[in-house]
Amino acid sequence: MAATALALDSFTALSDEQCDARIRAAKAALGDRLMILGHHYQRDEVFAHADVSGDSLKLSAMAAESDAQYIVFCGVHFMAEVADILTRDNQVVILPDLAAGCSMADMANLRNVRRAWAELQSVLDPDEQVTPVTYINSAADLKAFCGEHGGIVCTSSNARGVLDWAFSRREKVLFFPDQHLGRNTGYDMGIALEDMVVWDFMLPMGGLTPEQIKNAKMILWKGFCSVHQMFQPGHIDRFREAHPQGFVISHPENSFEVCQKSDYVGSTETILKTVRAAEPGSHWLVGTELNLVNRLHDEMKPKGVTVQFMSPTVCMCSTMFRTDPQHLAWTLESIQAGEVVNRIQVPAEVAKPAKAALDLMLSITR
Ligand code: 13P
Ligand code: SF4
Repeated sequence: MAATALALDSFTALSDEQCDARIRAAKAALGDRLMILGHHYQRDEVFAHADVSGDSLKLSAMAAESDAQYIVFCGVHFMAEVADILTRDNQVVILPDLAAGCSMADMANLRNVRRAWAELQSVLDPDEQVTPVTYINSAADLKAFCGEHGGIVCTSSNARGVLDWAFSRREKVLFFPDQHLGRNTGYDMGIALEDMVVWDFMLPMGGLTPEQIKNAKMILWKGFCSVHQMFQPGHIDRFREAHPQGFVISHPENSFEVCQKSDYVGSTETILKTVRAAEPGSHWLVGTELNLVNRLHDEMKPKGVTVQFMSPTVCMCSTMFRTDPQHLAWTLESIQAGEVVNRIQVPAEVAKPAKAALDLMLSITR
């Protein structure tokens, strides 16, 4: 008998407390068949239910190693795609709200990247000279593009190792979609700013001259994170005036200027580890998403460590925020009722080359 779909509407009327109880009950009933992955940017009411929390790299590795029949990914769309690509065909990956995307990932698409590759061919031989590197914050078909062109995927915690690998193979890198992660990592490796050019995907030839392309070591896609662009060097200056002994830690999706003014730069997992190891009495300014920073503040306060959000205005990742307890309860109870909702399934012809690029990344990182 076909299972009956549960109406999302009947969950949206529930309070967070009601959802909390129902999520716990569904988790208990599903037991080992279920694993909930939660990114650090998830809101508290959802994050509390994650079996494993982490940054993009940790969560990808956890998905790849999991035996759970159902993996519910409390994160954004590209993360659930990665989980689907790295798990077996009989495992089901679910994204509680399908509208949970990533505005940075949307700044590069296959059409634009193929066009860039073709345009680069008028100046050089990209398949001989350029390694395409996509940040994990990208659609599965861009990971597949990298897999098909001798390229690779990176996350914010392994970008350095991945770029070392890329430059050991070919002389140049086309890095998409986040120019900041590319620039910050490249500079850290000793690549001069003038050797990194920005490819404006709205313009023919990326708005670059043939000379600029020939001379560049890194070609950086003109993408960025709308959350991290809110953090400004002036926020750090003001913090340092008020707290000369304080520390500043930023995510590498921040601008070059913000990262240069920071004491530490690292992925969400690195930010947590670093601040958790801080001396009592220390004061930290943190340049990443608000939900993570608020939780870290609450965790460290009793330990005598002060954690402060970098921006004076509230800026959170609105797409991460879309995953609410109501959607989570709906997806879990649907599984219980025998109806999978919001399954993320990457077509096999995309998944295969994308997996090659992801496996390569994981093999370098482990
Ligand atoms: P992390 O890999 O550091 O978790 O970053 C993911 C992300 O989307 C940051 O904006
Ligand atoms: Fe995407 Fe920025 Fe949100 Fe991260 S914080 S998921 S990069 S929009």
